Amino acid sequence: MSVSLFGRSFLTLLDFSPEEIQYLLNLSKKVKKEAKSGKVFRRFQGKTLAMLFEKRSTRTRCAFETAFGEEGGYPVFLSTQDIHLGEKEALEDTARVMGRMFSAIQFRGFRQETVEILAKFSQKPVYNGLTDLYHPTQALADFMTLEENFGAVKGRTLCYVGDGRNNVARSLMVICAKLGTHFTVITPAELNPDNELRQKCAVFAQTSGSVITVTPNIVAVKGADAIYTDVWTSMGEESKREERLRLLSPYQVNQTLMGMTGKRDGIFLHCLPAVRGEEVTSDVIDGQQSRAWDEAENRKHTIKAVMLATLLKKV
Ligand code: CP
Ligand code: NVA
Repeated sequence: MSVSLFGRSFLTLLDFSPEEIQYLLNLSKKVKKEAKSGKVFRRFQGKTLAMLFEKRSTRTRCAFETAFGEEGGYPVFLSTQDIHLGEKEALEDTARVMGRMFSAIQFRGFRQETVEILAKFSQKPVYNGLTDLYHPTQALADFMTLEENFGAVKGRTLCYVGDGRNNVARSLMVICAKLGTHFTVITPAELNPDNELRQKCAVFAQTSGSVITVTPNIVAVKGADAIYTDVWTSMGEESKREERLRLLSPYQVNQTLMGMTGKRDGIFLHCLPAVRGEEVTSDVIDGQQSRAWDEAENRKHTIKAVMLATLLKKV
């Protein structure tokens, strides 16, 4: 089946079919091979990318900027200090103007609604580089890393341990449900993922065969092929730090927890940045099972693949 993603935005992954996601994963692997071979292409020559950041970023910013620039494109970094983003000008109007000047827009910030408005009013491909609800480019890199380790991911089990409501956990639920990977969220009941998302994912899971489980019980890590965690406090909820420490301390990913999977060839993933000694111990993130650094590198290859697929008629 031929897949074309030309002109599409990448906002939640909810609207991408399993075939389209697989296409992006395959293209990411091709892009990585090209990069390793030292081949140089100019596939973004004559194109411009607006990179809007309400929040700081290391991986996402560097991935977008280098992936676009090294192929001859012109990325422009714009923080909220630089442009009117929802202040002094309606967001819709900023989006309209950006659409006249740029080939595509990347947005990182708080509200999902912002990235949706940018896509609607710019009429150009818009990429969600993280909002409070989703982190879809991260999920793509995570699955590239899973495929590099296990080959096909259908029927494998990914287990997320930590804040079950967070953006990374939500995007992992979506991609697992689409691709037939079993997804276990281990989180205290207070931090359960919301029902609306769970219901949406249950529909995808029915087709793909994915089993989605949400439980507070840490022993559910047994049999997991991959353990994933993220910081305990983020998304503007920094004032809840004390409460999160209290709720999530029993959910730290340490060697004991990794051992409880019973899988010697299991891997550890983390979107980064990590708070060592909180959600993960240094011996795990620096240990043999960790793939966190491959995962970080894969952000660049997957992001380049998304931009190639959506900006070029033929890749
Ligand atoms: N994983 C991730 O999005 O990292 P940054 O916050 O550094 O972009
Ligand atoms: N939950 C984290 C993810 C960082 C990649 C955050 O929103 O900052």
